[in-house]
Amino acid sequence: MAVGIFDSGLGGLTVLDAAQKRLPDVPFVYLGDSANAPYGVRTPDDIYNLTTAATQRLFDEGCNLVILACNTASAAALRRMQESWVPKDKRVLGVFVPLIEALTERQWGDNSPPREVAVNHVALFATPATVSSRAFQRELAFRAIGVDVEGQACGGVVDAIEDGDFILAEALVRSHVDALKRKMPTPDAAILGCTHYPLMEETFQDALGPQAKVFSQASLVAESLADYLTRRPEMAGSGDQSKFLTTGDPMQVSSRATQFLRRQITFESA
Ligand code: DGL
Repeated sequence: MAVGIFDSGLGGLTVLDAAQKRLPDVPFVYLGDSANAPYGVRTPDDIYNLTTAATQRLFDEGCNLVILACNTASAAALRRMQESWVPKDKRVLGVFVPLIEALTERQWGDNSPPREVAVNHVALFATPATVSSRAFQRELAFRAIGVDVEGQACGGVVDAIEDGDFILAEALVRSHVDALKRKMPTPDAAILGCTHYPLMEETFQDALGPQAKVFSQASLVAESLADYLTRRPEMAGSGDQSKFLTTGDPMQVSSRATQFLRRQITFESA
């Protein structure tokens, strides 16, 4: 038994990397559905079907706990999965809540009424499916008042990153930040609401300017996972096999992953 980490492709490696650094003794099974990426341009039903199939694959690997290290799946499928699909002895957690708790200065489990927070103008960069789900705004509204959120659907960025084309990814990020600034000229916080985007964090920060505090998920999710496992240690299991699974071409995916994390990562076929 190990902790499962799922993403549509390679973006969840940003979360995996932070989780491995924070919890070096926990084995992780990573599954990237690169054959079907990007998810961000798919319908909610399609995202639900792909995400449940991938999560089942991780349950079959002996994982009791699966982290959806994919905002698109967290936004479009997680609630439906938790309500009607996840077996009683398993858990599936998303990546939104730790981020929103950080943005709204809350500790885990603080269910007090929404209140004013330090940030007022928040730019949300995410995939088209995540932006149109409005899941981020819904979760935020439970915790904060008076926060103006402007979403920017960043078409093309995930494809460029999956293809390893960082020149295109950088040009697209700059044009999406420009588009956002036309709607919200001076955001004081920016959410990188897609786990692929931390790979472009410097470009986002540079294009946004120093006044915008950039929140990215990897370390926040790792911290929240560590906290969860302290409360529910049985969910980590006792296995010692970390592995990387892909629905794509293992050679190509391994080479991109090795480039992203700057250490040897070897994927096998899912
Ligand atoms: N990393 C996924 C996310 O966080 C990318 C989604 C996609 O495949 O478009 O949203």
